[in-house]
Amino acid sequence: MTKIAPSILSANFATLKEDIQSVEAGSDYIHVDVMDGHFVPNITIGPMIVEAIRPVTDRPLDVHLMIENPEQYIDAFAEAGADIISVHQEACPHLHRVIQQIQAHGVKPGVVINPATPVSAVEPILQDVDLVLVMTVNPGFGGQSFITSTLGKIEELAQLKADYGFDFEIEVDGGVKAETAPDCVKAGADVLVAGSAIFKQSDRQAAIESIRSSIEI
Ligand code: DX5
Ligand code: ZN
Repeated sequence: MTKIAPSILSANFATLKEDIQSVEAGSDYIHVDVMDGHFVPNITIGPMIVEAIRPVTDRPLDVHLMIENPEQYIDAFAEAGADIISVHQEACPHLHRVIQQIQAHGVKPGVVINPATPVSAVEPILQDVDLVLVMTVNPGFGGQSFITSTLGKIEELAQLKADYGFDFEIEVDGGVKAETAPDCVKAGADVLVAGSAIFKQSDRQAAIESIRSSIEI
């Protein structure tokens, strides 16, 4: 079954515990967007916040690092309680080493590709990761419009999984809502990240349900 990962980027940070708990029932992961003001033009969450939210939910914390030099912070995020740590291919000249660093903590590694990055850039690492995150917007902000041309990359990854028996999950992130989720799932997405489509709605459970019912075939 397709997984749903609400992104707390669109939550109210003054009531983060309650906001996380309001989406727990219908969700599979809690997606945590870490931005450094360098790799992307926005600054958000550090390891202290991950540590603070770890005890408030039993959902896996899916930590998406949009930062330069992620190798400098992986140990801190792992110790803070991340269950999955994903790094951008574009930020890692030594990608294989960074993936090994994540694995050494017993944390699941993921690799992320921006809309302009081809699948071929991560092909050599596909056997080593638990998750491939296809950005469906340019990272940095919530509430942007879904970039349709990324769908072909989801299909390509799904085909590589079928051809070679890889078992990574394909996650999509950016502009995902009831209108765009069906195309993602048809293309082969296993995990849907949604920020504004869930947290900006007054009834979050209804918002999750609306995404779920849009993908029920
Ligand atoms: C964007 C982040 C996303 C963001 C998605 O840079 O990586 O996780 O929260 O937000 P929506 O779902 O509003 O596009
Ligand atoms: Zn994200």
